[in-house]
Amino acid sequence: MTGELSPIDKAKFVAAKKAAEYVEDGMRVGLGTGSTAAWLVRCIGEMVRDDGLKIKGVPTSTRTAELARDVGIEVISLDEARWLDLTIDGADEFDGDLNLIKGGGGALLQEKIVATASDRMIVIADVGKEVESLGAFPLPVEVIPFGWQTTQALIEETLISMDVLGRQSSMRMNAEVPFITDEGNHILDLHLNRIGNPRQLAMILNQMPGVVENGLFIDICDTVVIGFGDGRVELRDINEGTVTHDKLDFVESENLFTDLAD
Ligand code: 5RP
Repeated sequence: MTGELSPIDKAKFVAAKKAAEYVEDGMRVGLGTGSTAAWLVRCIGEMVRDDGLKIKGVPTSTRTAELARDVGIEVISLDEARWLDLTIDGADEFDGDLNLIKGGGGALLQEKIVATASDRMIVIADVGKEVESLGAFPLPVEVIPFGWQTTQALIEETLISMDVLGRQSSMRMNAEVPFITDEGNHILDLHLNRIGNPRQLAMILNQMPGVVENGLFIDICDTVVIGFGDGRVELRDINEGTVTHDKLDFVESENLFTDLAD
């Protein structure tokens, strides 16, 4: 069945599978959102079912919560967990300092809250997500619906004095209507092309009253697991300064490779 997976899906799968090795009995684990994180949730679900792994999962979206329950993971809220041992999540881009753009799936707010409340954040990504400078992927910014066009105008005006290569923005749509996040907000996607100073931009965006949170994750990610289409994985740990390699075999499993919804 893995023969039907594209190289990019294989890369996502092996990154997720490798990262699942860091999940241990008794842990409280933040579960990310997106197609790569969906593989992770399935891998952990398999460990729960087949190996008797006992963990509590804190999902970062209603989508992930549903999938986690479906595969047999015990789901608790962040407030029940209070603090997490580990969060594993995908990313839209990561740079050499393991700073990230996230929010392509619209879940950046919960993702940032959960990752920040964790001892360790591991990002799982296919190799195509690595960039020299962040910004080719449009930067998601969660804004409250009240006065969102005014907030948009303020953001675009502020971008004039920032080290970015573009300052257009667009409202994230869901077919004909604005996308609504789990918290009832909207997402503005900023088409910046290149972000010269992500740390400064993240701080300035969050000072605007209509902005709830932005998709720049600065100094939050500890480790990235990069997956390749041939089963290779590369692990980079920013704290240890280590880079290690491994190769995973694709082991077909009925439960893992059927009905992938995300
Ligand atoms: C969701 C996210 C995702 O982690 C990000 O969009 C990557 O998604 P995928 O694994 O599907 O490529 O930030 O808000």
